[in-house]
Amino acid sequence: MTNEPYFPGLEGVIAGETAVSTISGGLRYRGYSITDLAADSGFLEVAYLLLHRELPTEEQFADFKAILVESSWVDPAIIEFMKSIPLHVSAMDVLRTCISALGHFDPQLDDDSTPANIAKATRLLAQIPILIAARHRLRHGLPLVAPDAELSFAGNLLYLITGREPAPLFEKAMDVSLVLYAEHEFNASTFAARVVASTEADLHSAIVAAVGALKGPLHGGANERVLEVLQEVGRPAAAEAWVRQALAARRKIMGFGHRVYKQGDPRAVILKEYCTRLARAAEDPSLEQIADTIEQVVRDEKGLPPNLDWPSARLYHYLGLDVDLYTPLFVASRVAGWAAHVIEQAENNRLIRPRSKYVGPGDRSFTPLAKR
Ligand code: ACO
Repeated sequence: MTNEPYFPGLEGVIAGETAVSTISGGLRYRGYSITDLAADSGFLEVAYLLLHRELPTEEQFADFKAILVESSWVDPAIIEFMKSIPLHVSAMDVLRTCISALGHFDPQLDDDSTPANIAKATRLLAQIPILIAARHRLRHGLPLVAPDAELSFAGNLLYLITGREPAPLFEKAMDVSLVLYAEHEFNASTFAARVVASTEADLHSAIVAAVGALKGPLHGGANERVLEVLQEVGRPAAAEAWVRQALAARRKIMGFGHRVYKQGDPRAVILKEYCTRLARAAEDPSLEQIADTIEQVVRDEKGLPPNLDWPSARLYHYLGLDVDLYTPLFVASRVAGWAAHVIEQAENNRLIRPRSKYVGPGDRSFTPLAKR
């Protein structure tokens, strides 16, 4: 075993097969380019595509939407429990715990057949926005808002959080961010979900593990750190000096670099366009100017392009959302991809159990406690 090839962080390792998405030749979900999906579809169509493997017909789409509306009910016991969680606990931690609690109330928890897994995933898609919005509104002392069946998924998500129907540009921008966040092959959180599913544990357990993995700042947690950085910089004139100093101090610039996109993240390019439009609508170009300067310097000095979290943080800021909602919003979308992978893993399962390279002490003789 000692001479076996070893790749730290599993970099470049093919760890399984998937038909859900590929990054070869541009990111595609089940064969469809994200450019086309972001331009002409909506998040719910994409979620349907990921879970059901084909784009929906109009009739299938209407049924899916109706099921989502019915499934958005969250047991009041979970909301009561949420009220008891201390206010300093982050929105992401509360979401992880409450998704786990949803499992206790799900009628199909231990049924891992594909129809049951699709049904559970559909319920999670409907319930997660309710949880995110409930925590946000409770924390701000605001009354909870009931979902509006007439709104799109993105429109409803914003409505549940803010209590206001969003303007069309806001709704489209949110929708595109959800489309782009929905799926990304064997990233850390999806892999975590697949590892859990490979033990034949239930879908909720796999999703909870994925949420935990997503929270970290090297993964989904980066979008919250990005806005903190932009706020730290403060004004366009300070951006160049700030970023040069940060790089000289070997500080990581959140929102840059990617394990698999060394030439650029195609999702970031699409979302930046929406940031430009939102900044124009707000008649405030300063955040885009700060971002452009940082982007240029990081590219010139380190050869690193931005990833999706770089524009998404600005986009959510333009939508007027609190920073601690950013990673939970990633969850609201990525749950579709995670569930598609859990289903795929369950359908063709082999326990994921790699080996490690041992670097600990050699053989040692044991001395009983009393003689040590
Ligand atoms: N800022 C400054 N330097 C960086 C950054 C960054 N954001 N990312 C990578 N580097 C540097 C590394 O320090 C390293 O430099 P060195 O060769 O001089 O030591 C070099 O670029 C290569 O980086 P690795 O760490 O080997 O790249 P890896 O593939 O392991 O990491 C990762 C990818 C974790 C995403 C990394 O780029 C990073 O930490 N980025 C910031 C966090 C972030 O934005 N995460 C979001 C990822 S996308 C998503 O989850 C949707």
